[in-house]
Amino acid sequence: MLAARAITRRFGRTLALDGVDFEAHAGEIHALLGENGAGKTTLMNVIAGATRPNSGEVTLDGAALNAGSPQEALKAGIAAVHQSPMLFERMSWEENLALGGFGRRGRYDLRAVAAEAAALASQLGLKLPPPRAILEQRSVSERVRLELLRALSFEPLVLILDEPTSVLAPSELAGFLELLERLRAEGRIVVWITHKLAEARAAADRITVLRQGRVVARAISPETPERELAQLMLGELAPPDAAAIPKGGSGQSVLLLDNLLLIEDGRSIIDGLTLELSGGEITGLAGVDGNGQTELVELLARVRTPSGGSIRLSARTEAAEIAVIPQDRDHDGLVLDMTLWENLLLEPGLRERFTNGSWLDVAKARALGADVIARYKIRAASPDALAAELSGGNRQRLEVARAMSLKPKVIIAHNICRGLDLAATADVHRALVDFAAAGGAVLLISSDLDELLALCGRLFVISRGKIRETEPAERTPERLGLLMAGAWS
Ligand SMILES: Nc1ncnc2c1ncn2[C@@H]1O[C@H](COP(=O)(O)OP(=O)(O)O)[C@@H](O)[C@H]1O
Ligand SMILES: [Mg+2]
Repeated sequence: MLAARAITRRFGRTLALDGVDFEAHAGEIHALLGENGAGKTTLMNVIAGATRPNSGEVTLDGAALNAGSPQEALKAGIAAVHQSPMLFERMSWEENLALGGFGRRGRYDLRAVAAEAAALASQLGLKLPPPRAILEQRSVSERVRLELLRALSFEPLVLILDEPTSVLAPSELAGFLELLERLRAEGRIVVWITHKLAEARAAADRITVLRQGRVVARAISPETPERELAQLMLGELAPPDAAAIPKGGSGQSVLLLDNLLLIEDGRSIIDGLTLELSGGEITGLAGVDGNGQTELVELLARVRTPSGGSIRLSARTEAAEIAVIPQDRDHDGLVLDMTLWENLLLEPGLRERFTNGSWLDVAKARALGADVIARYKIRAASPDALAAELSGGNRQRLEVARAMSLKPKVIIAHNICRGLDLAATADVHRALVDFAAAGGAVLLISSDLDELLALCGRLFVISRGKIRETEPAERTPERLGLLMAGAWS
């Protein structure tokens, strides 16, 4: 058994590890899961002797290891494959392996090294670079494979892998997993560091979750639902608490779609759609893409006119109080060649606020940009950054920020979290929940059933332009899947 006890490690003012206990048993693949910066690599370095902890100890089968000595860790049977390979870049791979103990010890016979490496590589199903290739000219993936080969040549009892799959090609993954399963079957310990939930769930026997230098879940089952793992990893960034999600609504109608029709080329795209939105809840609309959702959003954004029926606002709602977040943020939501603050002003309601006569108050618009960057945690250098410079998640945060800044009564959101990472998804969901909890009405149009089931009070299904409300008993992914397939429409 490998055990790390009460490990604390500081880097200046950063507490990278704060009293961490970690245990892994012979014959298991143990995933060490955590967001960037959680302390995973630091913990690996402490276990492998590459970093000396401020306090705590590492034991293997009960025997304490000499902290901060990689040689001793290796002698005891602990080998590590680093996130950024620890190799001599200017040397050939054979020279690197020779220094790592390949070939006849004491004499650097590169042909013997290559032969030994080739034998081991074929046994492990790994590919080697061409003869005498210098490492700095090879890909990271090849370098990591060499590190893996070097680590395995020691026949370690414990193999620690730091985010190995991020450098593997998808085609290499199956072979890699087989290799790990073989090591497990031989009774070795594999510690697999990753920040990918799905990966940890698929491959590990048990999972330990680190957050901000602390263990927040110890050796839990890989069957733990993704949502729960996400919550553990992200902590306060976690998806909204189920109890905080308003369901039932205030009953105060803010928007009524009445028998809405959209006919194009003789085809009904929207076919008699009636839906009432009220404040204080998130109303869901589930559907397979292409069943009229995009057109519905365009009708609500008033870029299309209905062929029949009406969109009616309650007496206290104005048209400018409907904010629309379209699904295609790059084409319909933002202008990528414009700056962040210019994109905010694309919303007429906001533009109005910063216009004085025919003058635009640019300083004020920039100030809103700076405020939005801080409040919605948008990673952008300044309000003058171009939307094109933002990552997908940050573009989505910008769209949500723009909608919220309008202080609307209604938000129409279409596939709002598609392609976002966990942290961004959780933030966007929380913004919607807070908005609804404060009395706003949300129409969440999505093909993501988990999202809809988690957030929505009432839930409708759209198929071929028709909608139907779901019964509570139908709110399971299986039943919804059938309804979305349109048996009823
Ligand atoms: N050598 C170092 N010097 C200063 N800070 C460090 C060093 N190594 C790690 N840290 C800090 O410790 C924290 C944990 O980092 P790390 O163990 O690399 O996390 P992870 O591998 O989970 O992404 C981070 O805040 C990181 O910036
Ligand atoms: Mg790391």
